[in-house]
Amino acid sequence: MTQEHNGFVLWFTGLSGSGKSELASRVAEKLRTLGKKVEILDGDIVRQSLTKDLGFTEADRKTNLERVTFVAKLLSRNGVATLVSFISPYITSREAARKETTNFMEVFVKCPVEVCIERDTKGLYKKAIAGEIENFTGISHPYEEPPNPEIVVETDKETPEECVTKIITYINGTGLLDR
Ligand code: ADX
Repeated sequence: MTQEHNGFVLWFTGLSGSGKSELASRVAEKLRTLGKKVEILDGDIVRQSLTKDLGFTEADRKTNLERVTFVAKLLSRNGVATLVSFISPYITSREAARKETTNFMEVFVKCPVEVCIERDTKGLYKKAIAGEIENFTGISHPYEEPPNPEIVVETDKETPEECVTKIITYINGTGLLDR
C-alpha cells in the first residue's frame, strides 16, 4: 500500500486539561519521524479561525465538531495522519466523525475531573466553579465518555511517554504505518 492510502484520523477526546493537546503534539512528532504527513486540528487553535464564531452551547459545539470532521475527512482520505484534539463531549458527534472519515480511531484521554480541576492549567475550572463561565464541560455541561474507544490513556496514572507508546503501538498494529 502506498502512503497516500494510509491516511487516518486519531480523534483525541476528553475533558479540558486532560492532556489531549500535549499528547497529540507528541504523537505528531513521533509520526513525522516515521515519515508520515501529519496535521493537527486542535480546539484552542481551530476556535481562533475556522470556528471563531462559535461558543460552547450544545448547538455551537456540534457545529464546531461538524466543521472539524469535514476537514478531517478531506485530509484523511488524502493520506494525511490527522490528529484531532477537541473535548468533543457528545457520542453522536464522534460517531458521525467515525462514519465520515477514513480509518477513524478514537483515543479517550481519561482523567478524573477532580485531577483536571487540581491541574487547572488555564485557570478556567476556577472560573467555571465560581459561575463566571457557563456551560463548562465537567462542571456545568456534560461529557459523554466513549463506550468503545480504540485506545484509552489514563493521564493521571500513565506518563506522557507511556501514553504515546500505547497510541503508536496501536496504530502500528493496524498496518497504517507500513510503507
Ligand atoms: S468542544 O466541546 O467544542 O469540543 P473545544 O475542544 O473546541 O470544545 O474547546 C475547548 C477549550 O475551550 C477548552 O480547553 C478551554 O480552553 C476552552 N473553553 C472555554 N469555555 C469553555 C467551556 N464553557 N467549556 C469547555 N471549554 C471551554
